[in-house]
Amino acid sequence: MLYARNCWYVAGWSYQVETGQPFPMQILGDRLVLFRTSSGQMVALEDRCVHRLAPLSLGRCEGEGLRCMYHGMLFDAAGTVIEIPGQSLIPPNAKVRSYPVVERDSWIWVWMGDAAAADEAAIPRSRSLDDPDYILRHGWLDYDAEAQLINDNLLDFSHLSFVHANSFNLGADPAATQAKVTQLENGIRYARWMEGLPTNGAGLPDTPADSFMGYDFLIPGVLVMNISSWPLGTAAKLDYAEPADHSRAFRDCTFSGQAVTPMADRKARYFFSIGPHRNQGDETIADLMFKMVETAFDEDKRMIEAQQKVIDETPDMRIMPTAHDRTVTMFNAKVARLARGDAQARESALA
Ligand code: FES
Ligand SMILES: [Fe+2]
Repeated sequence: MLYARNCWYVAGWSYQVETGQPFPMQILGDRLVLFRTSSGQMVALEDRCVHRLAPLSLGRCEGEGLRCMYHGMLFDAAGTVIEIPGQSLIPPNAKVRSYPVVERDSWIWVWMGDAAAADEAAIPRSRSLDDPDYILRHGWLDYDAEAQLINDNLLDFSHLSFVHANSFNLGADPAATQAKVTQLENGIRYARWMEGLPTNGAGLPDTPADSFMGYDFLIPGVLVMNISSWPLGTAAKLDYAEPADHSRAFRDCTFSGQAVTPMADRKARYFFSIGPHRNQGDETIADLMFKMVETAFDEDKRMIEAQQKVIDETPDMRIMPTAHDRTVTMFNAKVARLARGDAQARESALA
């Protein structure tokens, strides 16, 4: 599978890294340790001591640094060894890799490529868990599957009609009709109206409505989604364009932020938040919605992990794309272009 390095990956929810508690994570096969220094700075280092390769995530946070708890070397926030017990000389190469890291929208973002190219403006925007306008629930799931298979799933919502036939109860529409798709510089934009939808998607009986669902899917695998339902006839009246202000919908205004992180071969972590706008929901609706998506995300995981097993047993793997796959093809081509750029940058650096 192909992934780009020169981009920001979600390493965790911000609160998962507590002051004084080293936090292990793996991204693109690299073992990382994240920690928050006593002054509050978030740090991401290679999780491998320069001495005898013990994991620094088993270490102890000390002030602005992290001590390896095998033989006690102390690393500063830049990954440089600043103390070796019983020895005053510190070799100049006593250093582990440090990764650019930024906290934004309740996520910890780590730049996995060339540190000089890390651009904070390229971090996809979501909503933080304490967004004043929404009541958001959140979670994460670990997959025994390639992150790319999860991205592919999120890029093709025709599976809603089948994988989620019972949980979302949206009927045949997501598969039977095509969404409007536009290219973005760093991903794709998906927009779909479902007219006369008899339920609110939570499977509850409700008055029929025109329901909008739209999301941006951004490199390396971040989904930012808005849903809202409007009186019958609104879709046609808006000429099937996205509503300007979802919070003015008459029901169902919902936000979801999701991120897929490739950890290693056939290993990925999927982060998600979802919840209603405060004008149209309360804690009970937020809980109900979260329960529904948890069921749905288990349905995805079951299918994707089973798909991964079949792929692994298929030596000359070939796929047969459909019309719905154009989003998958567009997005993966962008990732491939970026990954090729990474490889070229690496080669020219080595030349
Ligand atoms: S392995 Fe870290 S100090 Fe020895
Ligand atoms: Fe799904």
